[in-house]
This record gives sequence, C-alpha cells and structure tokens, in this order.
Amino acid sequence: MKKLILDVDTGVDDAQAIMIALTAKDVKVLGITCCHGNTPLENVLTNTLRVLKVCNRLDIPVYKGFSKPLLARKQHASDYHGKDGLGDVPDPDAPSVELLQKEKAAEAMLKIARENPGEVILVATGPLTNLAVAVQLDPSFPKKLKALYIMGGNTESRGNTTSCGEFNFVADPEAAFIVLDRYTCPTYIAAWEFSCRSSLSWSFWKEWLSVKTEKAAFIRKISDLSMKKACSAEYQKEVIAGQGFNPCDVFALAAAVDDGFITESEKVAVTVELNGKHTRGMMVLDYIECLKKEHKAVIMKTADLEKLKKMLYNAVQ
Ligand code: BDR
Repeated sequence: MKKLILDVDTGVDDAQAIMIALTAKDVKVLGITCCHGNTPLENVLTNTLRVLKVCNRLDIPVYKGFSKPLLARKQHASDYHGKDGLGDVPDPDAPSVELLQKEKAAEAMLKIARENPGEVILVATGPLTNLAVAVQLDPSFPKKLKALYIMGGNTESRGNTTSCGEFNFVADPEAAFIVLDRYTCPTYIAAWEFSCRSSLSWSFWKEWLSVKTEKAAFIRKISDLSMKKACSAEYQKEVIAGQGFNPCDVFALAAAVDDGFITESEKVAVTVELNGKHTRGMMVLDYIECLKKEHKAVIMKTADLEKLKKMLYNAVQ
C-alpha cells in the first residue's frame, strides 16, 4: 500500500490529480495540505473540500498551509484556472472550511512522516512553500520520506509564467530552491516541457468525459474555462507545438502511484535561479556538475500515456 500526502494549490489539474489518487489501486491518501498558488489560499481550501465532496471522501484530513510565498510577490494563475481556481462555477453547497484540521500543513506533514517513517510519498503540485517551511522546522523530515514527486520547474528554459519560468517555481522561487537543496530523499520532477510533450489529444478528452457520472460532470464543469484558454492562440505561444490536453499535475501524481509510469528519465542535480532579471524562478540543470551536489533528481522525460488514460478513466467512474 502506497501512503501519500498531497500538497496542492487546488486548481483544475490538482483536482484531477486528487481524483486519481483517490481511485488508484493500493494507494492511501493520509492527508492533503493546501498552499497558495493557482488561486488564493482561501479558495484552495474550499476547492479541495469540493473535490473531496464529489468523491465522497470528506473523511480525508485537509490542512491549511501558507497563504503567501516566502519572499516573492504573491501571484495566481486566475487566467487559466479562473478567479476561484475551479473555473468560476461556484458550488453554493460547498463544504464548510470548518471541516479543516486545526493543525497547520507543515506540522501535519512532519507528524504524518514521523508516524510512518520511510513510507510516505509526498506529491507536490503547487508552489513549494509548505515543503520549504517543513524542512526548516525539521531538517530530518526528508529522510523520513520514501520519495518526493514534484510538478514544477522547466528543463529547456521554456516558461509559462515568465519567459523561462514555470508557474509553481516562479510563484515561490526561494521555496523551490530550499526544497531542491534540502530534500535529499528520492526526488522526481515532472517539469513543464515534459508535461507539454506528454499531453493527450482533444478527442481523448471528449471521450474521457463522455461518461454519465457526477465526477465526469464535475470535471467538465470546472474545466470549461481552462479548456477554452488552452485552445486559444495566445496560450499556444506558451506551450510546445501541437499540444492538446495537458493535465500538468496529474503527471507527478501518476508517477507517484505507478512505478512503471515513467518510461524514460535522467538523473541530474538541479537548483533554481533566484537572482536573474529574466530568469528568476527558472530551474537550472547541472549537467556538468558545477554545483558539486551529491543529490540528483530524477527528471521525467517520457511516460506510458496508455496508463495515464486508464487512471483518468478510473478517476471519473
Ligand atoms: C503548474 O501551474 C499551475 O497552473 C498548474 O496547476 C500546474 O501545477 C503548471 O505550470
């Protein structure tokens, strides 16, 4: 049984990732920690509870994390995910935030890892603020994890937020720097370019959501705005040619729950640029080992997309 903590900034693709985690075989979600990111933290909390409600899993503990980055200016991805982070189609009966745990996200991560030493897989699909604080509170935290999976960063200096920066890293560059520096557990990165190249076709998208279930209807509803954006000429400049449906966060989750999902990868030391005028938040890959870092991250290159489709189908049944 795989034991997961999901650290999310619930927008549309985080919602899909959560739904996959809840339906994956032999996977237990021990907790969901929330972070600012795609939308302000207050929305992230409600969105996460909304997803759990649709999945009938409000029993999963949800924790409040940081509402802003360590040093950077707060920013959100409302253009893509909507002002509320879930396509601006509010649920008047959204679960109350009173359901949230009293404990804060970073402390909860430490506690869960302490109680399950060497077993917890942490999957981070938003800015890395909660993770950065957790390791400052307890430097031994990464050693207690089984692995860390991240959706974030970029490998070919292609940006979706700045010219060469990916959203999750640009939204809190200092946190990303700390995490890549201090998390010496096995670390797997699904970067922006990998997600673009692994995107699925729009015909798959239609077929996937054609099932008559509440979950499929929920995904269709919350994705309407982002799908229009994804098809717009303006957005096509951000992506890598020919891209279809790119559920970025789902790639990190899929890799965490299925060891055979990644079909090609490379190991390289990574860091984040903190100072450049144009490059702040960009992931740096140290192929020629200038950084003299012992710890190398696994950078995902290709994946088994048939497996991904199966996971997506299961998630909406
Ligand atoms: C990442 O940014 C967010 O908008 C998505 O949810 C994903 O985590 C892609 O750059």
